[in-house]
Amino acid sequence: MPFIKVEKAPLHVEIENITFGEEILLWKRTLSDVEVDIAKNEENFADKGVVQSICDKKDLIPGVYEGGLKVWEASLDLVQYLADLDIATCEGKTCIEIGCGAGLPGIYLSKYRNCTVDFQDFNEQVLKSVTIPNILLNNNIIDTQSLEFRINLDDYEKINNNRFIPGDWDDLSHNEEIKEHYDLLITSETIYDLNKYDSLLRLFHHALAENGILIVAAKRYYFGLGGSTNIFKNYVSKIMNGYKFEILDARIFEAGVPREIILFKKVRHDAK
Ligand SMILES: C[S@@+](CC[C@H](N)C(=O)[O-])C[C@H]1O[C@@H](n2cnc3c(N)ncnc32)[C@H](O)[C@@H]1O
Repeated sequence: MPFIKVEKAPLHVEIENITFGEEILLWKRTLSDVEVDIAKNEENFADKGVVQSICDKKDLIPGVYEGGLKVWEASLDLVQYLADLDIATCEGKTCIEIGCGAGLPGIYLSKYRNCTVDFQDFNEQVLKSVTIPNILLNNNIIDTQSLEFRINLDDYEKINNNRFIPGDWDDLSHNEEIKEHYDLLITSETIYDLNKYDSLLRLFHHALAENGILIVAAKRYYFGLGGSTNIFKNYVSKIMNGYKFEILDARIFEAGVPREIILFKKVRHDAK
C-alpha cells in the first residue's frame, strides 16, 4: 500500500499567504520554517535526501530529492488558471496532483471547487512537512496577526478525505487503487526531465478515467535538463492502450523564461 498515514502530533509552524485576485487566499508554511525544522530534527527524518538538499542548498538532487519543498512559479500560474476554469471542468471532481510539493493547486481545488484531491510527491518527507501542514492551514481559522499557527494533526482526519502517495511515478503507474480513478489530473513543474516522459505518460493514462482532463503547467523549456512544453506535447500525443490525449486549450505566461499551461482530454482513439 503506497498511501501514507498522518501522524498525530502537534506542529508549530510559521506561515504566509498568497492571494490571487480578490477572491482567493491560500496559506502555506514558509520555506525557511520547513528547512529549519528539518535541519534541526535531522536524526528524526528517514528521508536523508531532503536533509541533504537543504544542507547543500540544492533545488533538486535527481533521483534523491525532486524539488518539492519550495513553491515553483508554474504552480501559481496553475492556481490562477484553475480559478478561471468553468464549473463543468473543475467543480466537484475527483482529482490528483502529481508532483505536488506544497500542493497549492490541489488545495485550491479542494478549498474553492469542492473537489476530492489526492496528493503525490516523490519524497514522503515533503508530504509530511509541507503538503499536509498546508492543507491543514487552509482548513482552519488562522491568527493572521501573529503569522504563527499551531496545527493539531489530531484534527486532520475530521476535515479531510485526501490521500497522500509518496514514491516514484514508475511504481504509481502500476497501482490498482488509482487505476482510472480520476476525472482531473493536475501537475506543475514536473516535465523538466526528458527521461521521465515515458513514466509520466504511462501514469497519466493509468490514473485518468476516459474523458478525464489533464492539466500541465511548466516552463516552456528547462535549461540543461532537456524538457520543454513542445517536446512534451509531441510525446503525449502518442496513442497508448487505445487512448490518446487531445489538446483543448493552452495559455502562455510571459516571463524571462516563459511558462505555459496545457489542458488535454483523454479520449478513445478510433483507428480507422
Ligand atoms: C520541481 S518540483 C515541483 C513541485 C510543485 N509541483 C511546484 O510546482 O511547486 C517537481 C515535483 O515532481 C515530483 N517528481 C519529480 N520526479 C519524480 C519521480 N520520478 N517520481 C515521483 N515524483 C517525482 C517531485 O516530487 C516534486 O515535487
